[in-house]
Amino acid sequence: CNAVVLISGSGSNLQALIDSLGEDNPLRIRAVVSNRADAYGLTRAQNAGIATQVLDHKAFADREAFDCALIEAIDGFRPDLVVLAGFMRILTPAFVRHYSGRLLNIHPSLLPKHKGLNTHQRALDAQDSEHGCSVHFVSEELDGGPLIIQAVVPVEPGDTAETLALRVHMQEHRIYPTAVRWFAEGRLRLAAEGALLDGEKL
Ligand code: GRF
Repeated sequence: CNAVVLISGSGSNLQALIDSLGEDNPLRIRAVVSNRADAYGLTRAQNAGIATQVLDHKAFADREAFDCALIEAIDGFRPDLVVLAGFMRILTPAFVRHYSGRLLNIHPSLLPKHKGLNTHQRALDAQDSEHGCSVHFVSEELDGGPLIIQAVVPVEPGDTAETLALRVHMQEHRIYPTAVRWFAEGRLRLAAEGALLDGEKL
């Protein structure tokens, strides 16, 4: 299974995916594409011998033009799967449709709670007793596509957005490689009724 991973930043989830690669894993990361030239994830990719490409969104007139160029860049690597790993751009419906059923995202909240940004602070503000992260198929609704896997962490007394983010990140690094591997193994697919694992609804 050939994957292209999209990043904008640190790329710790990319690193977890790289660390999950091995003889027994059918996943191949063909390229890492970033919209930011200074994303540390690019260094992680280079260290792992993975091709990288930077496509600066600021060089394009609008979202449509950027997404068009992004599709061209990604499709050059002929991926079976596109993995969003901290890619901080909202994607156009045309982009999402183009990769329908082969586009995954990880979001740092227990969706459908806390879609969008600043999820850790928002979980604290809402006095949630539990928080976590979710992997989902991407649909045209922002952070609203069919869920694949979630991990729950407790919110501890005295937590800050930073301590909570650390706890959630550790779980992200566990569940994202798991979900991506399911896809690579051909066990995970998107159907009309939602995400299916081995034919069973998740
Ligand atoms: C993660 O918290 C992920 O859930 C969100 O963006 C962050 C990316 O972190 N979509 P990293 O670049 O993988 O370290």
